Amino acid sequence: MIDLLEELERDHLNMAALLRVLERQVELFRRGQSPDYEIIEAIVAYFLDYPDLIHHPKEDILARRLVAKHGAAASVLAGLPEQHTELGRLTRSFAEVLTKVLDQVELERNRFVHAAEDFIEAQRHHMEMEGQHFFPLVRHELTPDDLTDAALETLEREDPLFGHRAQPRFEALRRMVLEAETG
Ligand SMILES: [Fe+2]
Repeated sequence: MIDLLEELERDHLNMAALLRVLERQVELFRRGQSPDYEIIEAIVAYFLDYPDLIHHPKEDILARRLVAKHGAAASVLAGLPEQHTELGRLTRSFAEVLTKVLDQVELERNRFVHAAEDFIEAQRHHMEMEGQHFFPLVRHELTPDDLTDAALETLEREDPLFGHRAQPRFEALRRMVLEAETG
């Protein structure tokens, strides 16, 4: 149980580090300099992969369990799965804008900046909410019995970027995150 929570919290730290890298790249773009598009693409690809396919579904299972067990106390979490769906939608729309930029489709510069800012802001705001309201409930209210769940087991898969080894498509991004985080 604690392991699962630690894993979810570690995912958040990883995502927060990625958002800082993305923010710096978007700032370069805003100033008219050349960002590293491959890095931006890899960040978006990661969010569409591990957070959307593994991290959020795990949280959805825990949130539903908390609501079932504690009703009113956990009602703040009733909308969590929908928030995850909305985050996925936002990530895909940022990916679409990025594809247009990469395909050199005529696009207002501001549209890319705004899509990136919306994405960063929504991800941060969401993780902050979870850190304040969701994780403490998981920590205090759920027992190991609540988490012997086949659905959770089917979601066990190594993180393709921050796992034991980064997949080749994420190697450059992993190096950049490490460099950024160690200064
Ligand atoms: Fe989360």
